[in-house]
Amino acid sequence: MKVEVRYQSKSGNTKKVADAIANAAGVQALDVENPLAEPADVLFLGGAIYAGGLNGKLKKFIKGLQEGAVGKIVLFSTAMGPKHIGPKVEALLKGKNIPLEEEELHIRSNELLPEDRQQYDAAMEKAAQFAKKMTE
Ligand SMILES: Cc1cc2nc3c(=O)[nH]c(=O)nc-3n(C[C@H](O)[C@H](O)[C@H](O)COP(=O)(O)O)c2cc1C
Repeated sequence: MKVEVRYQSKSGNTKKVADAIANAAGVQALDVENPLAEPADVLFLGGAIYAGGLNGKLKKFIKGLQEGAVGKIVLFSTAMGPKHIGPKVEALLKGKNIPLEEEELHIRSNELLPEDRQQYDAAMEKAAQFAKKMTE
């Protein structure tokens, strides 16, 4: 199974989750400025919420996805609040025949504070378990 991980992250929170997912899947996470070089069975795609929306680089990556290049997109996100990226990504994918996994991973940014090691490790473990489940 070919797994790819792409993320958009301004201040590093989403990158931490991307790296935990990639590590569990045995691949490297790359930022969304790296388009897919070849088709993937599973694309883990992550981003954060900024002012209620998505960052332009993430939007551009999604718009550039070709039908047939991805077996399934699996989303992950971080934000201060509970709002995840799913609905916005779904809207951008409208009209494209690219399957989107219903289950998403959303981690609140206060779970990623390095000073609370226990909570941080739990968030990383949650990301790793999610990656394993989605690639079984
Ligand atoms: C300019 C800016 C706007 C933000 N707007 C929101 C928001 O509307 N809702 C929310 O829940 N979090 C918001 N956040 C918090 C980020 O989503 C959160 O810190 C996220 O983990 C950042 O991810 P990153 O470190 O990967 O860039 C905002 C953060 C910044 C810097």
